[in-house]
Amino acid sequence: MHMNVESIFHPVAIGPLTATNRLIRSATGEAAADLAGLPLAAPMSRIYGDLARGGVGLIIFGHAFVHANGRASARQSGLSADAHAAAWKPLLAALRPLTRAPLVAQLNYAGRQGYFRGAVPAPNDPAAPLPPPGTALNDFTDKQLENLIPAFADAAVRAVAAGFDGVQLHLAHGYLLSECLSAHTNKRSDSWGGPDPANRRRLPLKIVEAVRRKLPADKALLVKLNGSDFLPPDGIEPDEAAETAAQLEAAGVQMIEVSCGMMESGAGLGAARPVHQPEEEAYLLPLATAVAARVHIPVATVGGYKTTPVILRPIGEGLDLVSLSRALVREPDFPAKIQSGRSHEARCISCNKCFGIPEGALRCMVDHPQPIEA
Ligand SMILES: Cc1cc2nc3c(=O)[nH]c(=O)nc-3n(C[C@H](O)[C@H](O)[C@H](O)COP(=O)(O)O)c2cc1C
Ligand code: SF4
Repeated sequence: MHMNVESIFHPVAIGPLTATNRLIRSATGEAAADLAGLPLAAPMSRIYGDLARGGVGLIIFGHAFVHANGRASARQSGLSADAHAAAWKPLLAALRPLTRAPLVAQLNYAGRQGYFRGAVPAPNDPAAPLPPPGTALNDFTDKQLENLIPAFADAAVRAVAAGFDGVQLHLAHGYLLSECLSAHTNKRSDSWGGPDPANRRRLPLKIVEAVRRKLPADKALLVKLNGSDFLPPDGIEPDEAAETAAQLEAAGVQMIEVSCGMMESGAGLGAARPVHQPEEEAYLLPLATAVAARVHIPVATVGGYKTTPVILRPIGEGLDLVSLSRALVREPDFPAKIQSGRSHEARCISCNKCFGIPEGALRCMVDHPQPIEA
């Protein structure tokens, strides 16, 4: 099939939603919340206003913790309390006149890759005890694992109350549910883990089912999944990921974004790799293709897309969506520039300085070394 730039700008149905084109914004932590995980209006309005005006087809927000003990990083936002939903509501409402792109919250529990910052709310909520931040899946009690199911489902309900069009469950990058899926990290000897993949899929599938039950039919359920951990011999490999994807679809998932890696995979084999020439782009495309061969729902490929000819490659291979993070940090209007012929190459140099910004909210550190908001 001949692919040209117009091929990018076709709408794509994702369950009940419609991405206005094939370029989507991959979840990107904003570092723009207070100690309680409440979104800060000024930086969030800048980040999402720029994206909304910039022509991207669907926007996945940065990962939000579903419970205070599942925080991943400083200034991460939450959906663990009703106050979080209330704080998001006016921010999302203000974006609606700017774009028809669906707005999707990403839900996460960090697990061993997490830490606690601040004291609100306190760890070890007596109503639904979860272990302290940074606890590995292997050290959760049975009851604590059970408690994660309503934690995700309740966060999804809050996302809907806030005005999001759906949720993406974070099953990638070594956070708790990715930790659970991988034999590299899941060393439990009970029914939640060990060598049998069916055991390791049990918790993520139960969470998917619980979230789907709580989501209204007009809201979408997405996941981000590791197609590989790049950790032989026991990390996730594409065959196992593709089978997981098929089971996630059967449980009600409506779109799968295929990523990779965890803490010990290293920068060279992680989710956000350096890309300096077109041959280095699309470094996870084979993983997405392996998943797409097993499912009937839309699949998004993510990882190093920067130039239009390379963005067209997955579309030509039958994949539905191309997901961008860093390219949009530097140029939130990259999709509009492609569509109008003003650009065929993202300006991001993949220096990764926008990871773990020491001060201030998410921005391109090359263009804005100093915080944008006061
Ligand atoms: C600053 C920054 C923050 C990120 N935060 C998240 C996140 O919250 N959730 C997530 O799934 N991935 C996150 N990622 C990973 C990206 O979504 C994406 O998978 C990765 O950067 C590769 O895509 P890219 O080459 O287009 O940047 C983040 C990446 C960056 C650069
Ligand atoms: S800081 Fe570096 S990696 Fe991040 S958007 Fe800017 S150029 Fe790209």
